[in-house]
Amino acid sequence: MDMAMDKSKTARTAFLGWTAAGGPGGVRWLDHAATTPRLACAVAAERAFYERTNANPGRGLHRLGVAATAALEEAREVVRTFAGDRGKTGIIVFVRGTTEALNLVANAAGTEDEIWVGGAEHHSNLLPWFRGGRTVHVIPLTAAGDLDVGALAEGLRTGRGKGRKWVAFAAVSNVMGRLQDVAAICRVARAAGAKTVVDAAQVAFHGALQAEAWGCDFLAFSGHKMGGPMGIGALWGRTEALEELPPLMVGGEMVVDVEEEGCAMELAEVPARLEAGTVNAAGAAGLAAAAQWVAQCPAETHRRVAELAQEAARQLAAIEGVRVLGGAEEGGRRGVRTSLVTFTVDGVHAHDVAQWLDGEGIAVRGGRLCAHPVLARLGVTAATRASFGPVNDESDVAALVAAVRRAQEALR
Ligand code: ALA
Repeated sequence: MDMAMDKSKTARTAFLGWTAAGGPGGVRWLDHAATTPRLACAVAAERAFYERTNANPGRGLHRLGVAATAALEEAREVVRTFAGDRGKTGIIVFVRGTTEALNLVANAAGTEDEIWVGGAEHHSNLLPWFRGGRTVHVIPLTAAGDLDVGALAEGLRTGRGKGRKWVAFAAVSNVMGRLQDVAAICRVARAAGAKTVVDAAQVAFHGALQAEAWGCDFLAFSGHKMGGPMGIGALWGRTEALEELPPLMVGGEMVVDVEEEGCAMELAEVPARLEAGTVNAAGAAGLAAAAQWVAQCPAETHRRVAELAQEAARQLAAIEGVRVLGGAEEGGRRGVRTSLVTFTVDGVHAHDVAQWLDGEGIAVRGGRLCAHPVLARLGVTAATRASFGPVNDESDVAALVAAVRRAQEALR
């Protein structure tokens, strides 16, 4: 595990294809929110699973089967601790990613339930709640673009749902990029008897997850957004909350007994009952290695990433005709920008901005960011997003801002 910082004080050399001088294709990678560079230690752990313990976990009685099961359970423990559960109050369910995790939880909600979602959600924490003709309420945003905790409390107090209550929101929105007061939102929700579901996809790479301290019931995150492999992610849930979830899929290794008579099945305990089929155990090993790397990252690394995003927000907001969504100012305890800044350029479509930036060797995301209702709420049709990580430094901010100025000049 290479924790050494190179001369530019970034952690570039820990990532596959990166040297101290830069990354693959020579691009400045400002698209961490879509996917991060891959940690070499995560890919090595994935490969080691196949090299040393290549068997189907939970099935084989032979020695490799036992070793594969042990490797999977070891990864589960590492990821549980990484999620912020040191007291063993919860369990990790391995899934393909945040989207699957959120679908798994939302699948438990009924049509009579009262559902509240954040006002700045990615489609993956919105569409799963839409299913089955449910009524979904939106937690409004404050002027600064943060979730309005008071409005949520009032909404829950006067809500008319006949079933259970759910509050689902992103700790950091993939559009707004600001850390919410997760503990306060969970406190308000819990006081109203609601289950809380935290989308942590955009925060897992940038600071400590705090499942227990935040007091949530469920927490979801993806490997590929924290230096780990694609196709693996985690749903952490309080054990009792997980036990209430019906499986999203049924199949191998998630039952203790099956009878064709009456199509009867007796489900296994969690997590097995929620992990039908062969678990991506190699991916889980890679995710665990990435989790250990992130957990051991000096606080300074996370602080620098946040500072880069904040500085980019400040400099972009200072350009006439550029609007930073959520504002460039910092919001004290809440609303701290952690890693990304989303902006519009008057008179220039976000796709054109993104293409121009690519022409200058800067990778950003431009478009609707899988968050159509959020952009509509903010009164824009598309936006450009720059998202930072441990491979970036001040020169990336300077290059971004200069390139946006040139795009504005050339394209409007
Ligand atoms: N959820 C990822 C993004 O916001 C893909 O870009």
